[in-house]
Amino acid sequence: MNNYPKRTHMCGELRRTDVGTTVTLNGWVDVRRNLGGLLFVDVRDRSGKTQVKFEPQRNPELCQKAEQLRSEFVISVTGTVVPRPEGMVNASMPTGAIDIEATAFVILNEAILPPFPIEDEAKINEDVRLQYRYLDLRRPMMQKNLLVRHRAYQIVRNYFDRNGFLEVETPMLMKSTPEGARDFLVPSRIHHGKFYALPQSPQTYKQILMVAGYDRYFQIVKCFRDEDLRADRQPEFTQIDVEMSFANENDVHGFVEELMSELFEKILDHKTSLPFPRLTFDEAMARYGSDKPDTRFGLEIRDCSEQAGKTSFRVFSDAVAKNGIVAGIHVPGAAAMSRSQIDQWTEFVKQQGAGGLAYIRMLDGKIESSFDKFVSPDHVKAIALRLESKQGDLVFIISGPRQKSLAILGALRLELANRLDLIPSNKWNFLWVTDFPALEFSEEEKRYVAVHHPFTSPKLEDLHYLESDPVKARARAYDLVLNGNEIAGGSIRIHDSALQSKMFTLLGINPEEAKLKFGFMLDAFKYGAPPHGGIAFGFDRILMLITGSKSIRDVIAFPKTTSGMSLMDDSPSIVDEKQLHDLHIRIVEG
Ligand code: AMO
Repeated sequence: MNNYPKRTHMCGELRRTDVGTTVTLNGWVDVRRNLGGLLFVDVRDRSGKTQVKFEPQRNPELCQKAEQLRSEFVISVTGTVVPRPEGMVNASMPTGAIDIEATAFVILNEAILPPFPIEDEAKINEDVRLQYRYLDLRRPMMQKNLLVRHRAYQIVRNYFDRNGFLEVETPMLMKSTPEGARDFLVPSRIHHGKFYALPQSPQTYKQILMVAGYDRYFQIVKCFRDEDLRADRQPEFTQIDVEMSFANENDVHGFVEELMSELFEKILDHKTSLPFPRLTFDEAMARYGSDKPDTRFGLEIRDCSEQAGKTSFRVFSDAVAKNGIVAGIHVPGAAAMSRSQIDQWTEFVKQQGAGGLAYIRMLDGKIESSFDKFVSPDHVKAIALRLESKQGDLVFIISGPRQKSLAILGALRLELANRLDLIPSNKWNFLWVTDFPALEFSEEEKRYVAVHHPFTSPKLEDLHYLESDPVKARARAYDLVLNGNEIAGGSIRIHDSALQSKMFTLLGINPEEAKLKFGFMLDAFKYGAPPHGGIAFGFDRILMLITGSKSIRDVIAFPKTTSGMSLMDDSPSIVDEKQLHDLHIRIVEG
């Protein structure tokens, strides 16, 4: 069907002011309804849909021909725009005030019965949606999400362009680096036995661009990480990547805050108050048990080690004696919680690795606790008061090693808020988390690993700790958190090759290995590297939050499943022997 009437309008465009005009729409049959011989066909494209009327009295032949139309047929339909009769106007549909009285149509393509209806309300298994992604993407929700994504790209590009940032593309085939997640590797055909890696991020390139003098860089860029996937993670995802020369933390934060405020204003009409609040990593852990705290609700953690450590309850006093912590959360109005519910919460914290869960309830003027047998009423009261409990409240307490106990309380806090429905849905709480430790000791690898990445500068005043007590050194790193999600992370970098070499040594990367893996960077730093710093946003994560999606997959046109599969084209897949042969690869069974 090469010759067909081309559209005069998109399917979501026509209004009352178009009444009387002759129009042609091209699109998909959304639904066909037969109301006592009168036939209604909704025609859809990505702008919306319009109702087309076929009347047997006016044109019996055309009406009969229209009986063959089925959902998802592609048609071109021509007719006159007419007002809908009084009482038939559909105010919830932008084109709901008009109909098209059809005078002709052609079928441009037929369609077999789709495996699910093309509507938002349909309950469809996600695997089926992903297998038939081209049908899933026709659903209004997905179209809205991709439209928001498109608008966000434009806002971001425009913002950086206006502020003097240059967009520079960096390679997709690069050198494999030892830090961070696992690399996706690409074998080289020409260089036998050698591999490229797909970038986990353009980190090294953007720093090299600063050395090269391309101050103020940005890029909307695909990144690849072969890691375990979750609802907010994909093996290939998109970052908004940024780097600036001669910039300190405040410079980077300023640009980021302005960008977020513009994005949320333009897309959601939401006014963000600036500057964003800041919390140090230590404070975030102490109050929220998380380095990405959701501050939309209370249930803050309080440390009661001082009060609990004095008791003869060994679970508490031992934890404090071993430099651990006793801390808790008070849940307002929950004193009457049943035993079996408390048991469920105990089970929850045990799954998170806690030894158990202690509680205090303050009900009917009395205080009762799970450790009454071991602790005097005065001490129980002192703990309850320290945890800010009042009559009618319930207090949950955990004791043990500090970071572990706080993290468990953090998970408990989130789960309590979810189950008790304490999280307001109309809030956008941005928050900077700063002063992360530069290094942590990996028990698994028996060496220090970078908390951010090895190019992050330690705080200058903490440099001496690198020798004496490396985990005490704080990094010039920051994360941007939105409603409990880490949406961006960055740092001020090391720009001195001697300090960079020292950092590699601390990370257990010996000078030969450092030269082999990062020699180009260490060399570049010897040729006048400016002080610099930057940040990268998880673009998909931001869109997931803006669109209110439950999964990152709903804002990506062609995502992978949690097991890294693309169900539509069935990848990864086997390749033929010749391809393997060219790459000198042999598959070993098992
Ligand atoms: P980082 O590793 O923190 O920093 O990544 C930046 C942001 O990217 C998002 N993100 C992801 N989104 C979806 N799927 C994933 N698998 C995934 N992994 C990370 C997060 C995160 O905050 N080079 C540094 C940035 C810098 O220092 O400038 C980096 O990549 O929202």
